[in-house]
Amino acid sequence: MALQSTELTPNTGSEIFVDKSVLLSGALAGELRALLVQRGVIIARGLNLTDDEQRALARSLGDLRLGTVKKEGDEGLMKVTFDAKINPEYAQFFFGSQLWHMDGTYEEVPPFATLLTPRVLSETGGQTEFVSNYAAYEDLPDDEKALLDTLTVVHTMQAALFPGKRDCSPEEFAMWCAYPNREHPLVWQHKSGRKSLVLSTSGSHIVGMHPLDSHDLLQRLMRHATQEKYLYRHTWQMGDLLIWDNTGTMHRVTPFPEESGRQLHRFTLNGEEVVRGVV
Ligand code: OGA
Ligand code: MN
Repeated sequence: MALQSTELTPNTGSEIFVDKSVLLSGALAGELRALLVQRGVIIARGLNLTDDEQRALARSLGDLRLGTVKKEGDEGLMKVTFDAKINPEYAQFFFGSQLWHMDGTYEEVPPFATLLTPRVLSETGGQTEFVSNYAAYEDLPDDEKALLDTLTVVHTMQAALFPGKRDCSPEEFAMWCAYPNREHPLVWQHKSGRKSLVLSTSGSHIVGMHPLDSHDLLQRLMRHATQEKYLYRHTWQMGDLLIWDNTGTMHRVTPFPEESGRQLHRFTLNGEEVVRGVV
């Protein structure tokens, strides 16, 4: 079956035009996965998926992350919100989502992809932005690629969160620091053969490099990778479906008032490969 789609920007994001029943049949799973890895983000409008439908679609695309099931029928469902009454674990870290990041950089195998649908939207802000860490790598000069291919980055929770909450309490900062760090190669050689930067605000420093040089390099790469030419900004409408390839993109949410009650329903697919460096 041929999947109908159109590119939303030159590097990142495609919109698909698909009948809901065909989408849920699983018949397009192979094509969707290929498009996801190629374009980083897939959106569809007007689908109005229920939780069960969103979960079934997720399962057709990969290995659903289950997490802790809070309530019957909520298997795999995470409610993305600032509201601590709805999701206390997520709410305490959600401010960090306003900085460019990949999810799960503390894990050996970061999640492959995530599916989001809106349930409550904010009248202002609350867009989700994506950039392609594939395109950002591919556009670098060859000599720079060759250098970056040899580097390893330490990802820490305090690097990810402190820039978003400089007035945190000493106890909160200590709690972030207690979280285990994770090293990943700066350049990911994916099984597909494509390479991407493993870039995220969680990237604290480069192993074995002088701290000032390491800081400069990571800042420069972040500025490079987040240029407008790599960006897709999603302005949400009720009924949308958005899927992103977490292994080859960064994302962030633009600021919005907490009182808006903004809430998205999220299902995540487990990663399928460790972050393998260039060999
Ligand atoms: C996430 C995330 C952004 C948003 O769910 O991992 O960063 O727009 N969400 O809510
Ligand atoms: Mn995120």
